[in-house]
Formats: sequence, structure tokens, C-alpha cells
Amino acid sequence: MCGIIGYVGKNKNALHVLIAGLKALEYRGYDSAGIAFVNDNNIEIIKSEGKIKNLESKIDKNYNSNIGIGHTRWATHGCPETINSHPHRVGNVTIVHNGIIENYEQLKNELEKEGYKFISETDTEVACALIDFFYKETKNKLSALKKASSKMKGSFAFGIIFDDDLDNIYAMRKDSPLIIAVGDKENFIASDVPAILEYTNKYILLDKNEYAVINDNEIKIYDDNFNILNKEILTYGGTKEVAMKNGYEHFMLKEINDEPKVILDTYMQFVQSNLKDILSNMPDLSKYDKFDIVACGSAYHAGLVGKNLIEEYANVPVNVELASEYRYKKNFNNNKTLTILISQSGETADTLAALRKAKEKNIDTLGIINVVGSSIAREADKVIYIKAGAEISVATTKAYQAQVLILALIAINKGVVDCSISLEDAINYLNELEEIPKKIENLISNIEEYKMVAQTIYKKEHLFFLGRGIDYALSMEGSLKLKEISYIHSEAYAAGELKHGTISLIEEGTSVIAIVTDEKIDEKTVSNIKEVKARGADVTLITTEKLYKKYENSNFYDRKIIIPMSNVLFQELLTIVPLQLIAYETAKLRGESIDQPRNLAKSVTVE
Ligand code: AGP
Repeated sequence: MCGIIGYVGKNKNALHVLIAGLKALEYRGYDSAGIAFVNDNNIEIIKSEGKIKNLESKIDKNYNSNIGIGHTRWATHGCPETINSHPHRVGNVTIVHNGIIENYEQLKNELEKEGYKFISETDTEVACALIDFFYKETKNKLSALKKASSKMKGSFAFGIIFDDDLDNIYAMRKDSPLIIAVGDKENFIASDVPAILEYTNKYILLDKNEYAVINDNEIKIYDDNFNILNKEILTYGGTKEVAMKNGYEHFMLKEINDEPKVILDTYMQFVQSNLKDILSNMPDLSKYDKFDIVACGSAYHAGLVGKNLIEEYANVPVNVELASEYRYKKNFNNNKTLTILISQSGETADTLAALRKAKEKNIDTLGIINVVGSSIAREADKVIYIKAGAEISVATTKAYQAQVLILALIAINKGVVDCSISLEDAINYLNELEEIPKKIENLISNIEEYKMVAQTIYKKEHLFFLGRGIDYALSMEGSLKLKEISYIHSEAYAAGELKHGTISLIEEGTSVIAIVTDEKIDEKTVSNIKEVKARGADVTLITTEKLYKKYENSNFYDRKIIIPMSNVLFQELLTIVPLQLIAYETAKLRGESIDQPRNLAKSVTVE
């Protein structure tokens, strides 16, 4: 979503810090950028549409300042034009904003009656005017911020500079993330850590309804009653290369290559002396007789994989919902339902809203989250962190894998608790976990096979992914990966459903990627693949070593990708790897912007 950076200090030129910080936030997705800085006791604002280099080209190289705020905008209200870019300035207030003010029209009308005039279409300009209005009324900056915050509905994080206090940056947040980074004679605000890693790895999480006032040698944080808080200073564990590409051409390829370590880190967090610890160190799930999994995008697809595993092995019904649907529909749950929110960023607006809906109904909630201290992580009753590290590429890969792993562990954990899995079987399953990282590594090394498949599809306009059961859930994620980075339209289809209409689209040369890993239903799926093959489809078969032996002399496929065998609870962690890399290699052949696909943002913090 939008990105915020702010700097105040004596050691550096604020403009350099702002531009570098905005570049480090580019992965969040944006369509314009801007900065505000103090120059000769005035606030200068420079902003531009498009990439940050367009903004840089507008900045006089002689400018030098020790305080400023910057912003990358992903348009919500108002098209991506300079007039709508941040920073916005009204009266004596200049702000940058991440989030969305849902009642901005009503506030705009009220402020226009007070004489305010607006030049942009944005909710942010209204928020700026509101702060200015209350500052003029109260003559107190924190009171003005609090009053403005209480009037605004929606999510926000602000960086603010007041004309009559050019030594301090003010900050406040409700539901959008904001950190205060701690330097030596310099301090920063930022939407998240990569923006400031070049300068410091020490930071403070600003919590909901807290206010910060920072200058070059002091950070003050206040609660909603303006009591000064003594907040913990965290140290970001990842080193700079975590946010850099580590020698890979794209963050996405780096992050796929991170997957073996992510799998290891994610399950080892529960292990003290042996793998059996996993069962006792996961949250207690004994009281629940139903799970609602709620998420968006790839996290939703992870939930669909989890459904297959939990229902099969823990014998518990699982309902998987898109968060954007869940929050507006009737839900049937009770105190024995656990609502599981899956979110890499922990800031996805729809998923956060779904969490709040569940909590309003006193339903227990569990977050499966990557970003430590994110809104969903902090508001869910319980949280399990996936240890995926910073995921920069907009298309999620390693975080998706870790989400699926946690759901597989939940299936085992719940299965043992409900006696649908024996402890002995559970230990055997867990012992197979230790082989997964190496098997993923081996799959990644088969990159030439995926390049070959990419060659057959990169010029296509349409493509089908087929699968049944868990393979259907996997095909949905494979389809999304391909769509979001290569811009090729693709559809994931339940193999058995094709003949009910969609098979009319299959013609000579139609590309089909068919996934067959489930030995309980492989023959059914193979017969569906034969139906598309008979109509001229070009079929790439993704199957296991064992099933390949069964079909190696068949002619219903044009090429195959063979997946090593694993315990059925972890097989999906292997199957998805070729799908991720086929999408990556296809997007590369098409010369697309792989880490920052058009129209997309890493964290969708608006509805
Ligand atoms: C996946 O590659 C996409 N970037 C998108 O579907 C993403 O999974 C979705 O927006 C959910 O994000 P979250 O996990 O941060 O909540």
C-alpha cells in the first residue's frame, strides 16, 4: 500500500534519506511519490506521478534540510495524478498518510462549511484540514491530533509537520502500520523496516491510538491520554541483505530460494529438544469442533490447502472464506469455532475487518501472520508467526509455503488431540518434515524444466490449471502466481467440473497444466486430462515419482514435471514449487516487472 518515511537529524541531508527510504518502500506498490522538507524556515513540497526517479528529477541538488517526510502513494481516492499525491498541506499542517478515511466526504462537507477549500480528490487532504481545524481550535498539537483521530473512521498512519514547530515530526496511527526508528542524533518514522535499514535496525512499534513526537535527539510517545509511554526498542533480526536481493535477479526468486530455510525456521520455532515438542508448543486447539479460515488471495489458497489437510487428518470441518465476503455475510459459529485469519502482512484491510467481526461475536481468533507486531497479529486472541522474514516481492511464495506448513501442523496437532491421529503416526509424519527443505532445494534446482514449460506458454493469452481435491487448491495458487506476474489470463478448474461447460474453450494448442499428486483420486483426474488432450490441449503434467511410474507410458501429456514423494501432509509444499517457478520464468520471458506487478500492492490496506 502507501509508504511513509520521515527523517529528523543532524547527520544527513533529509532529502537523501527520504528518497532512499521511498525506494526501499517501492515494493509496496505505488503510482506517485512526494516529499516535504524544511528549507529556510519554510516547508517545501515536491511531488510527482510515476516512479521515484521522476520525483528525484524535480529536486534541486542544492537543497539541504535536516527534517522532512516522504510518501509513495497507491491511489485509493482520486486518480494517480500529482495533485492527489502526498504530502498534502492545509493551513499550518503538512501530512503524509497511509490508509483510508471512510467518512472523508462527510468530514469534507463539514470543513467546507468552516471555510476550508480543497484542491485534491483525496481523503488525506481532508484529514490534513481536520488536524489544522482542531489545531486552530485547541492551540495544542496533541489535542488537535486526538480530536481529528476521533472524528475519522477507517485506517490511518500519519506523518505530520506543523509550520510553527519545524524541529519535530509528529506521528499517529490507528490501523495502518508505523514504526519509529532510533538513530544516533537522528530519528525516523517509516511504514516498515526496509525503509530505514540502511541507517538503523532499532525501532519502536507505534501502537493503535498512540502519538509520537520525534526530533534529532528525542523520541516521545504518548497514549490516548497523553501519558508518556516507555516503549520497548526492538532490533530487526534480518540483516540488510534480507531486504536486498542477495544476488538474485528478483526478490521473488530470492524468496523462493529462501523457502527451505523458511520451512525449517517455521517449524523449529516450536521445537526445544525434539520434533514432538511441536505438538505441545502449538496453541491448544482441543475445545474447537470447527475452524473458519478467513483470508485473501494466496493466503486464501493456503487456507483451501489447509482445509483438505485438517478435514482429512484431524476429522474437523473447515469452512474457508474470502475475507471480503466473510465480513459482510451471515456466519454460523459459536464458542467451539476457531476463526483462523491468515495474512502475510497482517495489515490486509478485509482480513483485519473479518478478525474484528469475529471478535465482536466473541469467537476465538488465531492469526497465522508473518509481520511481527502487525495489526492482525496484535488484535487476534492468539498468533502463530510464520518465520518467513521480510517478503518483498508482491507475489508471495515463501510466506504462502509457511502458511501451508502451519496449517499442516495444525492438522497433526488437532488430529492427535482428537485421537484421529495416533501419537506414533504424528511423530512419523513430523520426522518426514526434516526432509522437506532438501526436497524443495532439489526441486528449485530443476529450473531448466520450468524454463522449458515457460517456453511453451509465455506467448499464450489463456491457460488452464486442472486439479482435484488438494491439487485443485494448489492449481488455484499456481494460476494466481501466473496471472499476477506474467499477466497471462489463466483459470484454475476442478478437473471434474470442466465437462460442465468450460471444456468448450479447449481447442487445438490450448495450454493446460494438470496437477495429479493425490493417489486416492488420480485415475479420475487422469480421465479428465484425457478429455482435454483429446480436444487438442497441450498438457504439462505435474505428478509424483510414484504416480509417474503408473503413467509414464501414457500419452495424455506432452511433458511432465516429477515431484519427489513426501508424507501426504507435506506433499503440497513440494508440488507448489514448480508452479511458482513456471510463473516466474514465464514472466521473465515476457519481460514483466516481476517484483512489482502493475496495479498490485504488497499489502492491500484498503477495502
Ligand atoms: C499473492 O501473491 C498476492 N500478493 C495477494 O493475493 C496476497 O496474498 C493477498 O493480498 C493477501 O495478502 P496478506 O497475506 O498480506 O493478507
